[in-house]
Amino acid sequence: MPLPAESRRKSAVCGILSPGAGLPPPPHNSNEIRKLMNTKPRQILVTSALPYANGPIHLGHMLEYIQTDIWVRFQRLRGHECIYVCADDAHGTPIMLKARELGITSEELVARIGAEHRRDFADFHIGVDNYHSTHSPENRELATHIYKELKKHGHIMRRTIRQFYDEQAKMFLPDRFIKGTCPRCATPDQYGDACENCGATYSPADLVNPVSVISGTRPVEKESEHYFFKLGDFTGFLKGWMTTSKLHPAVRAKLDEWFQVGLQDWDISRDAPYFGFEIPDAPGKYFYVWLDAPIGYMASFKNLCDDPKKNPGGKLRFEDYWSKDSQKELYHFIGKDITYFHTLFWPAMLSGADFRTPTAVYAHGFLTVNGQKMSKSRGTFIKARTYLDHLNPEYLRYYFAAKLGAGVEDIDLNLDDFVQRVNSDLIGKYVNIASRAATLLQQNFEGRIGNPNLPITSNLFNQQTDFNIDLTRSVPQAYEMREFHAAMNIVMRNAERINGSWHEAAPWRPAQVADANASQKLHDICSMAIQAFRLLTIALKPVLPQLAANAENFLNIHELHWNDINNPLPEGHQIRPYQHIMTRIEPAKVKAMLEASKENLTKPSEKTAANMEPIFPEISYDDFAKLDLRIARIARAEHVDGADKLLRLTLDLGGETRNVFAGIKSAYAPEQLQGKLTVMVANLAPRTMKFGVSEGMVLAAGPGGKDLWILEPHAGAQPGMRVK
Ligand code: MSP
Ligand code: ZN
Repeated sequence: MPLPAESRRKSAVCGILSPGAGLPPPPHNSNEIRKLMNTKPRQILVTSALPYANGPIHLGHMLEYIQTDIWVRFQRLRGHECIYVCADDAHGTPIMLKARELGITSEELVARIGAEHRRDFADFHIGVDNYHSTHSPENRELATHIYKELKKHGHIMRRTIRQFYDEQAKMFLPDRFIKGTCPRCATPDQYGDACENCGATYSPADLVNPVSVISGTRPVEKESEHYFFKLGDFTGFLKGWMTTSKLHPAVRAKLDEWFQVGLQDWDISRDAPYFGFEIPDAPGKYFYVWLDAPIGYMASFKNLCDDPKKNPGGKLRFEDYWSKDSQKELYHFIGKDITYFHTLFWPAMLSGADFRTPTAVYAHGFLTVNGQKMSKSRGTFIKARTYLDHLNPEYLRYYFAAKLGAGVEDIDLNLDDFVQRVNSDLIGKYVNIASRAATLLQQNFEGRIGNPNLPITSNLFNQQTDFNIDLTRSVPQAYEMREFHAAMNIVMRNAERINGSWHEAAPWRPAQVADANASQKLHDICSMAIQAFRLLTIALKPVLPQLAANAENFLNIHELHWNDINNPLPEGHQIRPYQHIMTRIEPAKVKAMLEASKENLTKPSEKTAANMEPIFPEISYDDFAKLDLRIARIARAEHVDGADKLLRLTLDLGGETRNVFAGIKSAYAPEQLQGKLTVMVANLAPRTMKFGVSEGMVLAAGPGGKDLWILEPHAGAQPGMRVK
């Protein structure tokens, strides 16, 4: 349920983080934050939304997994126990149909896609502790348990509803599998729930000329008994939960709207055939995918707890995190489109089944690329894998961090800005400090750090002290509040200042070398720069784990933790010779990625110039003139009994009508054609077929099957006009 534009606010940043700006108040007060930050180790469970197992991970998804992973890494770096679980969302009609289309079982599809998802996440350094599936024994058990509890407490009821049914495919149709003409603006080819042209929302029954996307036939209305979760029973509870849980004001405002409208019963069952879990005591009825999807968070955690390899000694215990009185923290990171499920259904289900409820639900906005919705034809629908084929994942992690705040506004990946920003911040500001200082330190001091307590270069020293303060206060606060952009700003501002004083001190100048103190000064400046670089590395580590590992290796130290800000490199510590910590983005690689994204979508059926069907031998104009092509109106289109490829068309030529059998049934439903204009060959000799005489031909292009498109003239052409 997308949040409307007016409820999206500029991300809230507290005054300490971006001085001077007239910004709205922080999402939760800084006292509370400070308390959280200084206390003893916390125990935190974090989830990201579970991606559907019917398609690849794309950069829009990555916005969420990167956001979550940064937050999780930050918590771990601070010494907290932070468990991060995720899973594939395996159930539902689209997955079942996709598997059918590929001629494999749903289980096979889910296994195949799950493996791809895991690889994509690992290669983007998403550090999940467990990645599971909603089609798992743990999830079946938990979903069944929760359902039974809800039923026991009277929160489930049955009701018979009328729903569209595809008689050919023998199944009930989800709204997204019905298309038709919008009842409000008359735009054809709109989904059963909403019109993409005018934004109207409606039910499939309101569509003009509804057609099943699966078989192309007109669906019929049919009754079926469904199971409902009485969400309204939880209105009071949810209002309370909303005030105690840490929700962003934009999310809270949305909840208020929903409360005002009133909470509706929620249909949690689907009829067979369906890929999911059968409802206990209700043969042929399945849990709707969204019932067991969030339970998948619990299932993934349970799977982690129960696995001795992943949980040695059984230290993590399921009950500790999920029982009603659990004191541990639970956070769900989600996209704004699934807020309703996570802030209403989910806490209500948990509460109704006597489990704990989330500490907070953190919703983010959508990713756009170059200012627009990701588009396949522009090449901006970029799969995680295509990105990884061309670019370092940490470029994107940094760019997202530099733009992410706690709010729900959309985030734009502007590819020119991406190149510019990453190169100027990470290479120009951060990496350069190390490469310059290391070179001089190696040349003159065997790479050894000078005495940290005797700073001559006061400027650099003061800055480092300031940075120390930032690192103890404002940077962690920004991370905690998910104001990653503010954290990155502070870090880069410090990097700039360090670069500035480096230039001022100009340790490489011959004049300085002539100075009596020159050698000492040079040593101090280089050592200070390396110390500052180390601090910057700590601050960037949640965002850039690989780069931090490279830096640790170069600095010749163990893994950095946040507390290490207070332990500078000791005098005499020897760093390693400088090696590349990160290289610049080459714009050509970005271009290649966009090209590859365009290629990705070329269907096998689409022919390129190289393998196009050869052009026929030349003909004279006279040959062409023998063809009598006419505009025809399809007065009627109907199925032919016993024919599985043909439709019978009655074509109106403006005076006379023709009966034509056309082999286009696989691509068109009769309803889609009726009333439309097309082009026919009017002087073709009649042909007697099994079903009758065909008096001409309509013109169509395409390889066949579903990929067949009949010709349609521009508006203004009239039936009977000659085409020449
Ligand atoms: N399967 C459900 C979630 C179930 S959670 C119990 C689902 N899957 S999804 O694959 O469609 O999306 C997974 C997550 O990615 C969602 O949080 C969704 O909001 C997010 N995103 C998908 N496309 C996105 C963008 N273009 N931009 C940002 N986030 C996006 O929803
Ligand atoms: Zn419309």
